[in-house]
Amino acid sequence: MSLVEYSGVFYRPLHPRPTILLITLCPGGRVNAMPASWNMPISEEPPTIGISVYKEAYTYQCLKHHPEATVNVPSQEHADLVYALGSVSGRSVDKVAKYGLRLIPSDTIKTPTWADALAVYETVVDKEVEVGEVGLFVLRVLKVKVKEGLVDKWGINLGKANILLHGSGRVFYLVDSRRMLAKPWF
Ligand SMILES: Cc1cc2nc3c(=O)[nH]c(=O)nc-3n(C[C@H](O)[C@H](O)[C@H](O)COP(=O)(O)O)c2cc1C
Repeated sequence: MSLVEYSGVFYRPLHPRPTILLITLCPGGRVNAMPASWNMPISEEPPTIGISVYKEAYTYQCLKHHPEATVNVPSQEHADLVYALGSVSGRSVDKVAKYGLRLIPSDTIKTPTWADALAVYETVVDKEVEVGEVGLFVLRVLKVKVKEGLVDKWGINLGKANILLHGSGRVFYLVDSRRMLAKPWF
């Protein structure tokens, strides 16, 4: 196969991507949730996550209103829910009520945690970098929690749960397997 110029949507070859559920506190005290697959760990010291949020999303307004968020990791069982939460805006729908999201208090911030997440990061907004149509939010991690026994030193134990990778539109991928390389490089 030779490399040929690709004229489709530029980011397609960078997908599928792990998807998280970003929960925020909005004006009037409402809680909102939106899936985001444009997310990444940025630094270890301090622990920091970057998430790209479309400026038109209600979540953008909520992050400006209350600069904290929980970054919740959904499992494969949540694919339909995640897709639904990304198909409507909290500006017009109370998604927590409509989809019956089970929320519990976070330990370090006012923004709640999704009780059904595989893992959650409690974060505060460190800074926003404006890029084109999005705000890239740099979130400092205050606390990390995972479902007991789910994560080992290599990552999520696939025998217990799978994460959701977003392809495009209604297409999600699952992680197939864990393979240990025969020997280290150095
Ligand atoms: C799987 C999935 C991943 C998404 N990833 C992002 C993302 O990384 N950034 C973003 O701004 N929107 C993303 N979206 C779109 C938002 O979730 C969508 O616009 C949502 O309705 C915004 O909700 P809000 O207006 O309540 O904030 C994604 C949607 C889906 C279904």
